[in-house]
Amino acid sequence: MASDEFLPIKGMSDIISPEVSLWQLVESRAREVFHAYGLTEIRTPILEREELFIHSLGNTTDVVQKEMFTLDYQGKMRLTLRPEGTAGVIRSLAGAGPDGRQARVYYLGPMFRAERPQAGRRRQFHQIGAELTGEANPLADAECLAMQAHLLKAWGLSQCRIKINTRGLPEDRAVVADGLRTVLKPHLDGLCEDCRRRYEQNVLRVLDCKNPACGKIVEGLPSMTSFMSEASRSYFEEVQYALRLLNLEGEVTPRLVRGLDYYAHTVWEISHPGLGAQDALSGGGRYQIMMNGKPVDGVGFALGMERVLAALNAEGVHAEDLVLRPKAWLVSLGEAALKENLLLAMTLRRLGVACGMDLTARSMKAQMRAAGKSGAAYVLIRGDAEMEKGVFQVKDMVASKQEEQALPEIMSLLLPDITPPPAGG
Ligand code: HAM
Repeated sequence: MASDEFLPIKGMSDIISPEVSLWQLVESRAREVFHAYGLTEIRTPILEREELFIHSLGNTTDVVQKEMFTLDYQGKMRLTLRPEGTAGVIRSLAGAGPDGRQARVYYLGPMFRAERPQAGRRRQFHQIGAELTGEANPLADAECLAMQAHLLKAWGLSQCRIKINTRGLPEDRAVVADGLRTVLKPHLDGLCEDCRRRYEQNVLRVLDCKNPACGKIVEGLPSMTSFMSEASRSYFEEVQYALRLLNLEGEVTPRLVRGLDYYAHTVWEISHPGLGAQDALSGGGRYQIMMNGKPVDGVGFALGMERVLAALNAEGVHAEDLVLRPKAWLVSLGEAALKENLLLAMTLRRLGVACGMDLTARSMKAQMRAAGKSGAAYVLIRGDAEMEKGVFQVKDMVASKQEEQALPEIMSLLLPDITPPPAGG
């Protein structure tokens, strides 16, 4: 065998130890977040019929026109290595009947796009994605985006930028496209060759063309929303209101249209400054896909795993930062405190607070050493005197401060942040 026959195909890689451990940590943290939002995992085949993608993503999109790995199977079928997850997931959910039309699922796995490999752009890459099906509802769009923001935070990423826009109701598509063609017509000669083709086939894509000449023309156009119905515009207003309520700020970006045809209403992209030219960490939005003559509505997103890892690297997050540490460690001084602490530990765990303790009332020094080793953020200490007063000595392990606190105060330390909505928001 020639030496490069031992190498994977360009744009694809083996993922091996020690790197694979970081993949596993990132994936398991994602599962925890998804489970907290009531999502279950779905695993669909990697190979699907070519028509599924042509029909769902749209036959004038770049992915369908240029980027699919398709093979002819014995002259009987054309099969495609999935370039993204949404189409297969919706095919599966639609086949499950009414339950599939109200589902909350997530997926992890390899996707394939026949692109020219370059930094951040691969032929085999991996997505972590989520799809929430159900009728269009601005609160669902906001919840989905908030879940994604939660996930990024759970991984320790803090420098992400969220851009949002709307593509309006599916019924508005033709009117918006006509409106855009009308205002673009006088500028046709100034557009790049790709955009002159897009003008006919998929005019929305002219808006996000990276060519500076096209960008300049687009800057002077009225925004896409000005061609939309009142219903589309007020839907987007409600999404933005709900995002403010959840303390999330998406930057409204009128040129953001996303590259797949199934989108309707809200669309978003999350970028990261550590990624270079291919700075999209994730993309998502609301969509409608026809399956068996009936529309399936949903909202979802997918993150590129390789880009998540690159962003973590850029922010200096390491594998050890992703290992889940207990939030609290209970130290018991005496048998009575030990029994009460065991009960408290169970209650905290049921509330989702990871906590640990010693099951013997051994010396305070030994218990404190175990607490330190666990990496817990807070140590709650009590003996007979504290039990009598109904308090704990609470040691903040990061600030290295200790003070006496009662349970209600302690609970607000341990339970996840619930930030109040901004005044008048
Ligand atoms: P997408 O924007 O095509 O959306 O891909 C989502 C993410 O996958 C991108 O932001 C990027 O991180 C990663 N990605 C895409 N292509 C490549 C590549 N060639 N190499 C490395 N990473 C890549 C979708 O796929 C939609 N299905 C998202 C969605 C789900 N919308 C609604 N539900």
